[in-house]
Amino acid sequence: MVLTIALVLLSFCNLSLATAGEANDASALLKWRSSLDNQSQSFLSSWVGSNPCHDWIGIGCSNNTTDGEYVVTSIRLSNSSLRGTLGDLDTWSLRNLESLDLSFNSLSGIIPHKIGTLNSLEFLNLSSNQLTGVIPSSIGNLTNLHYLYLDNNTLSGSIPCELGRARALKDLKISKNLLNGTIPFSFRNFSMIEGIDVTDNNISGSIPDYFANYTRLERLDLGKNNFSGIIPTELGKKTALVHFRLLMNNLIGPLPQDMNLTKMEVFAVSHNMLSGHLPHDICASGSLIQICACNNRFTGPVPKSLKNCKSIFRVRLQRNQLTGNISDDFGIYQELDFIDLSYNKLYGEVSSNWGFCPNLTSLQMSNNNLSGKISIELGRATRLSELYLSSNHLVGEIPKSFERLSSLMKLYLDDNALSGTIPSELGHLHNLEVLNMAKNSFTGRIEEKLGECLKLRSLNLSSNRFGGIIPVHISKLDKLESLDLSENSLIGRLPPQLGRLNTLETLNLSHNNLKGSIPSSFIEMVSLTTVDVSFNQLEGPLPKMRAFEEAPMEALRNNKRLCGKNTGLDCPTERRNQDKENKVLKVILIIVLPSLGCMLLLFVIIFCVFFSLHKRNPNDTRTPQETEANPFTIWSYDGKMAYENIIDALDDFDSKHIVGVGGHGTVYKAELLSEVFAVKKFHAPEDDKMQSSKSFETEIQALTAIRHQNIVKLYGFCVHPRHSFLVYEFLVGGSLRMVLNDMKQAVDFNWEKRLMAVKGIANALSYMHHDCSQPIIHRDLSSGNVLLDSDWVAHVSDFGTARVLDQDSSNWTSFAGTIGYVAPELAYTMEVSEKCDVYSFGILTLEVIMGKHPGDFLTSSPDMKGASLTEILDQRLPSPVEQIAEQLELLVEVAFSCLQKSPHSRPSMWEVTLGLSV
Ligand SMILES: *[C@@H]1O[C@H](CO)[C@@H](O)[C@H](O)[C@H]1NC(C)=O
Ligand SMILES: *[C@@H]1O[C@H](CO)[C@@H](O)[C@H](O)[C@H]1NC(C)=O
Ligand SMILES: *[C@@H]1O[C@H](CO)[C@@H](O)[C@H](O)[C@H]1NC(C)=O
Ligand SMILES: *[C@@H]1O[C@H](CO)[C@@H](O)[C@H](O)[C@H]1NC(C)=O
Ligand SMILES: *[C@@H]1O[C@H](CO)[C@@H](O)[C@H](O)[C@H]1NC(C)=O
Ligand SMILES: *[C@@H]1O[C@H](CO)[C@@H](O)[C@H](O)[C@H]1NC(C)=O
Ligand SMILES: *[C@@H]1O[C@H](CO)[C@@H](O)[C@H](O)[C@H]1NC(C)=O
Repeated sequence: MVLTIALVLLSFCNLSLATAGEANDASALLKWRSSLDNQSQSFLSSWVGSNPCHDWIGIGCSNNTTDGEYVVTSIRLSNSSLRGTLGDLDTWSLRNLESLDLSFNSLSGIIPHKIGTLNSLEFLNLSSNQLTGVIPSSIGNLTNLHYLYLDNNTLSGSIPCELGRARALKDLKISKNLLNGTIPFSFRNFSMIEGIDVTDNNISGSIPDYFANYTRLERLDLGKNNFSGIIPTELGKKTALVHFRLLMNNLIGPLPQDMNLTKMEVFAVSHNMLSGHLPHDICASGSLIQICACNNRFTGPVPKSLKNCKSIFRVRLQRNQLTGNISDDFGIYQELDFIDLSYNKLYGEVSSNWGFCPNLTSLQMSNNNLSGKISIELGRATRLSELYLSSNHLVGEIPKSFERLSSLMKLYLDDNALSGTIPSELGHLHNLEVLNMAKNSFTGRIEEKLGECLKLRSLNLSSNRFGGIIPVHISKLDKLESLDLSENSLIGRLPPQLGRLNTLETLNLSHNNLKGSIPSSFIEMVSLTTVDVSFNQLEGPLPKMRAFEEAPMEALRNNKRLCGKNTGLDCPTERRNQDKENKVLKVILIIVLPSLGCMLLLFVIIFCVFFSLHKRNPNDTRTPQETEANPFTIWSYDGKMAYENIIDALDDFDSKHIVGVGGHGTVYKAELLSEVFAVKKFHAPEDDKMQSSKSFETEIQALTAIRHQNIVKLYGFCVHPRHSFLVYEFLVGGSLRMVLNDMKQAVDFNWEKRLMAVKGIANALSYMHHDCSQPIIHRDLSSGNVLLDSDWVAHVSDFGTARVLDQDSSNWTSFAGTIGYVAPELAYTMEVSEKCDVYSFGILTLEVIMGKHPGDFLTSSPDMKGASLTEILDQRLPSPVEQIAEQLELLVEVAFSCLQKSPHSRPSMWEVTLGLSV
């Protein structure tokens, strides 16, 4: 009886225990559900009752054959929009779980430590959530775990070494997190491992040697980390890898030898510093899909096995040092989508095979040594959307078959030796967005049909031999952002219709023979920011828009008679507003300006001839290579400053450093060695290879040695094929011209200061004319190159550089001077003497007194007859006190004596300083 009761009780207990087990699972799941947000809860609305194994969404159970109990063994709720944390998951109750998949939800917070109690777990996937914190070390307790996916979260810290205790791991994926540190040594225990993916973290250290002992490893993804050192030499020998991805690390040295490549599908080692050869049998598997080895230092030929690699889809081998003839290295591929071989040292021809790759969308072979013609068969690759063949040695014409490339968006053929005309068939390429044919030998006219490529954003036809006019059809390209037609032989006028290109941002028409005026319709190009129309025959006013009005002189120079800002010429309409015209100025303008271009050219030629003669001088110890590699430099500064430092400080002459534009060059402000310098870069076309010589050096050295309180210190000079420049002391006050043109500064610049400034200029000139071993003539004195320091002391800039640049051409002189300051004799003779400077000084003095250039005043009263002092004084300043007025009167008198027509009648600067000091 007692026994029976005990038995009944026992079985009852047993029964109640069983139901309690299911109820435990249910309540654990319901508790977790209630911690999630409302939307998640309604998604889990099937979770009702006490039996999770009865139609609860995402829940899987198994029955125990021994006791008949149901237990929850899997939760699979991937991509279910769950929002919440894992904090309330009762892992103790759910300890029978074998599989937990909560990937692609919005779970946040940390991965709780108690996850380590789910010790039946074989599959754990929490990827693509917003989990934070570290990977809990307790995961190492999950000794049954085969698959661990924590990728695409924001987990941080280092990988816990305890993870190595999960010895059953087959697949580990922790990519796309913020993990750092190194791969823990405990990972050597992973004898079952088939896949490791730690891509896109910040893991450092070397790739462990023992990875080579993973006999089952098929996928190794270590990309986008900080791994350094060499790749273990034995890696991939004991096992046949399928995915091998080490891209974007700091790995060096050669690839492992004897890798078993019989299963390779993805081989990606790009963006490292790997060297040596690529394995020839890379496609031994016959199933290689991708090879990415770009941006390394690989040498040797393209892998041979690629030729018959039918499976290949993407090939990226660009930016290595691969060599060899590729004419026959590639076959015909059905699957190939993308191939980039640019920036290598490959030669041979562009194979006709490419035309038979039906799925090829991008073919890139720029910057190699390819030669021969472009195969006509290329026109068969009708899926092609990008074709890059720039910077090779290709010859011949563009095949007419290209008209079939109707998917083509980008066509780069620049920097080759291609010739012939633009085939009108290119007009059929309706998807073309970029067409670059620059730097070839194309001839004929600009094809009108190009106007039908309505998607063109960038059209570059520069540096060819195109002639004829600019076809009006170009104006139909209403998506065009960049148009470069420079360095051709285009003639005729600019079509006003071009104004319709209202998305155009850069326009380069320089170095052609375009004539006429710039159409005023150009102001409709509202997006235009950069223009260059230099070296044409253009004339008339600039369009009233920023792109033109703020264009640097370099972009406008060498035209016929362009006028307006930065052209050096005022427009006639503007001049008519002024009452009187300066006859002297007019004469100078008419005589000098047309010859200005010629003279500058002659100056450059003579300069070049002179120095090229010198270069052949056997006494010159410099080897040609030396002079080409090392810019010729002289620094009187402490010697630390060098060409590179200047280029660096100016970000390669970035326009943001420009502080002014002058007649001979653009002035930049350079800050280096915690000091500020002014750097004047010459307007010299790149091909004007200036060379140095002994006498030139001596002369510059002499100039850098000059120290005078009224002369801007010259620190150095640099002649380089790319940039030639002078380095000066930087003065904060700006130029005299700027000060006089600025209302506020002009008032601050009172009569005492002005007197002092003029005397300073006189002192500087007198010193250079009379106190040096040989007189040094300025040649280009103007208010633009007299600079003021913070105390209003005048410093003359650019002294002697005009002469230095014109070395040794004693019976000839270049025209160096600013219009309005040049002595009249220079307009018809070439005789330069100190008296030219004296004349300029006269003009400058009047300018300081009047507050503006005396041009008009000189025309009306060339010898000052009848002009009273009060009439000419700068009206912005109060009338001077009597003592100052006397000095000003003397100054005016001296100024006019300096302006006499005959150079011989003008006083010397020595006499001027003497006169002013009394
Ligand atoms: C689990 O139980 C069901 C009946 O509830 C039975 O049909 C099935 O065979 C059992 N499974 C195992 C693996 O014993
Ligand atoms: C089945 O139940 C028995 C008795 O409760 C237990 O010992 C056994 O571990 C269970 N088996 C499984 C696979 O859960
Ligand atoms: C990463 O997770 C986000 C959601 O958190 C998802 O939208 C995205 O597709 C995931 N990325 C990958 C590569 O799985
Ligand atoms: C689980 O792991 C933690 C830390 O690794 C450890 O302290 C704990 O004793 C382990 N628990 C079990 C049940 O193994
Ligand atoms: C790893 O990152 C954590 C923050 O996530 C930082 O505290 C730690 O110093 C880093 N460790 C290393 C070795 O960079
Ligand atoms: C790889 O395994 C071999 C044999 O099991 C062993 O001798 C060697 O030390 C292991 N290499 C590394 C780097 O652990
Ligand atoms: C390479 O791997 C394959 C497949 O794993 C194997 O059959 C073959 O023997 C291996 N080759 C070498 C040379 O180890």
